Amino acid sequence: MRVFVAGAAGAIGQQLLPQLIAQGHQVTASTRSPAKAARLRELGAEPVVVDGLDAVAVGEAVARAEPEAVVHQMTSLAGGSDLRHFDRTFAVTNRLRTQGTDHLLAAAAAAGARRFIAQSYTGWPNIREGGPVKTEDDPLDPDPPAAQRESLAAIRYLERVVPATAPLQGIVLRYGSFYGPGASDAFVGLVRKRRLPVIGDGGGVWSFLHIRDAAAATVAALEHGRPGVYNVVDDEPARVREWLPFLAQAVGAKPPRRIPVWLGRLAAGEVAVAAMTQIRGSSNARAKRELGWQPAWPSWRQGFSGGLAAAEPVRGAA
Ligand SMILES: NC(=O)c1ccc[n+]([C@@H]2O[C@H](COP(=O)([O-])OP(=O)(O)OC[C@H]3O[C@@H](n4cnc5c(N)ncnc54)[C@H](OP(=O)(O)O)[C@@H]3O)[C@@H](O)[C@H]2O)c1
Repeated sequence: MRVFVAGAAGAIGQQLLPQLIAQGHQVTASTRSPAKAARLRELGAEPVVVDGLDAVAVGEAVARAEPEAVVHQMTSLAGGSDLRHFDRTFAVTNRLRTQGTDHLLAAAAAAGARRFIAQSYTGWPNIREGGPVKTEDDPLDPDPPAAQRESLAAIRYLERVVPATAPLQGIVLRYGSFYGPGASDAFVGLVRKRRLPVIGDGGGVWSFLHIRDAAAATVAALEHGRPGVYNVVDDEPARVREWLPFLAQAVGAKPPRRIPVWLGRLAAGEVAVAAMTQIRGSSNARAKRELGWQPAWPSWRQGFSGGLAAAEPVRGAA
């Protein structure tokens, strides 16, 4: 299949391109940076330099590639995140999820593409009431922390328009929290420095995903699955009080500090408190059933021990 990957030089793109090429797909890969084009070529793709927020340039680049499928992996998160000013940190990503999605959908439709796959996120967007693990049929948070409202609105927009743009078959992949090569260095750095404390009871539930499995699910979604939204996460949603001490131990750090909610709110703000105490995890049952995908790293336990720097699990390891 001819595939156009927008935002191909990021953490996910670097895992996705080799998997697409290995499956025999012919890939055109976009970056804004001429300097990164050589890397995309090394990975086996035909690079194209284009800004995802430039509608005309996107239209031309996609038309030239004549893709049968378009994959939207554009985010702008490399600068790190400031949880207290979450929407500010996500401002460009939010534009890429709204305007960037519109430009790419229009370009894909005009070029006669059949399938469109877009990156979304699952974890904090879930409703923070009821059971600990949510499916795609559960509502998103009707009342997110104030600093996350614009970011949730952008996710809602993308998740609404992508599956609704017939005749394009639009698939939204809600990836869990990434870890793995190129995907978790900053996060692990915080754990090493003991700057990621367990807040309150640490009852927030997180769903993780090895970056290699995110790429594999994306390849699977080229061929399988009806238009719609899919949670792409590992098999073991877990509370912060379980996974954070485990991660600290796995990377040889001291155990995380424990701080009360009032201090967490003061030091890091409402988004951090919600993430540590209230958010819900996600079920991968639909993705397994309908995309024919299985995580190679089914649990963060195995992943934090052996998968922070490695793409493939060692055969036979527990
Ligand atoms: N589910 C998750 O947990 C999740 C999801 C996404 C990212 N992350 C994390 O966030 C961190 C940074 O991610 P990343 O390395 O993928 O970097 P990133 O800065 O988010 O960039 C991702 C891709 O989007 C592209 N992009 C950014 N702005 C663009 C624009 N205006 N037009 C077109 N393309 C644009 C970048 O292209 P250029 O080549 O032009 O720079 C890059 O290819 C990593 O640690 C990653 O794991 C986590």
